[in-house]
Amino acid sequence: MMRYLRLVMLGLMLGGCGDDRAHPMSTMAPRSDLANWCYSMFLEVTAWDFLILAIVIVAFILAVFFFSTRVGEAGPPTAVSSDLKLEIAWTLGPALILLFISIPTVRLIFRTQPRTAFAGELPITVVAHQWWWEFHYDDGSGAITANELHVPVNRPIHLKLVSNDVIHSFWVPRLGGKRDVVPGQVNEIHFSASVPGEYYGQCAEFCGDSHANMRFRIFVDKPGDFAMWEKAQAAPGAMSAGDTSEARGARVFANSPCTTCHTVNGVSKGYVGPDLTHLASRSTIAAGVMPNDPQHLTEWIEHPDELKPGARMPDFGLRGAELNDLVAYLESLK
Ligand code: CUA
Repeated sequence: MMRYLRLVMLGLMLGGCGDDRAHPMSTMAPRSDLANWCYSMFLEVTAWDFLILAIVIVAFILAVFFFSTRVGEAGPPTAVSSDLKLEIAWTLGPALILLFISIPTVRLIFRTQPRTAFAGELPITVVAHQWWWEFHYDDGSGAITANELHVPVNRPIHLKLVSNDVIHSFWVPRLGGKRDVVPGQVNEIHFSASVPGEYYGQCAEFCGDSHANMRFRIFVDKPGDFAMWEKAQAAPGAMSAGDTSEARGARVFANSPCTTCHTVNGVSKGYVGPDLTHLASRSTIAAGVMPNDPQHLTEWIEHPDELKPGARMPDFGLRGAELNDLVAYLESLK
């Protein structure tokens, strides 16, 4: 019976929500151990719920059609003012069901928060900001990036989640979460991704104007690709010389207020906004809101608040040739 129910539900759910491209944020297409555990528990609890629903429906049908008084039958039903046994039964019943369901839930919570580190795990600090994500690789590489996290496939990942301002929530439906990111506290997520690919993430706790624009991506790479990516991220930024647009843009950047908020390794040390040392290696800008190309980057620098309400980055009035050069420089930061 249980197995049959599970199969029916699995079919319904996968049919509706499991398609990779149509539903990139479906929790019903898990691609990590953590997401798999959450999904299995959801199936398990829902299967038990279906069983309870079936019992209720059967009892209802029996009461209406088989154990009811018919027209022409004798006497009104017996009046019962209280029945202690019945009251105990309908209090205890739901309480036991809740207890029964809480066992796998609590078990999973403990399972996802191990006390000891996994062998070979990759530690990463995640800093949530209004409204973007910062990632520090704590494996000694010194790599720092924003909004696009790269991790190797089949390796335990240990995320330490901290907030720079308000409460956020880290959620990548197909890899696991949600876990709140709370100021003054370190929360953790452990997972091991099972399939290389690109996975969408989203802040899942209302955190202000651009909460919905606080997106991110996790790229699950093959180990060799990840090693190359991490090495490139840890390297200093590209330098351009001469009188190219990029070189002029580098000077625009170095003399602009951008440097107070943004780091470009070797040029500036701002820490309010994302590290731009390897900005051009990312596929999106503004926390996953726009593709990373010269046109969108130009619009973003011109009208941050229009494209992302509440954005902390002001419009500094950079326009024309200056802006073109700046964009050329930023897009050269591979
Ligand atoms: Cu951060 Cu919602």
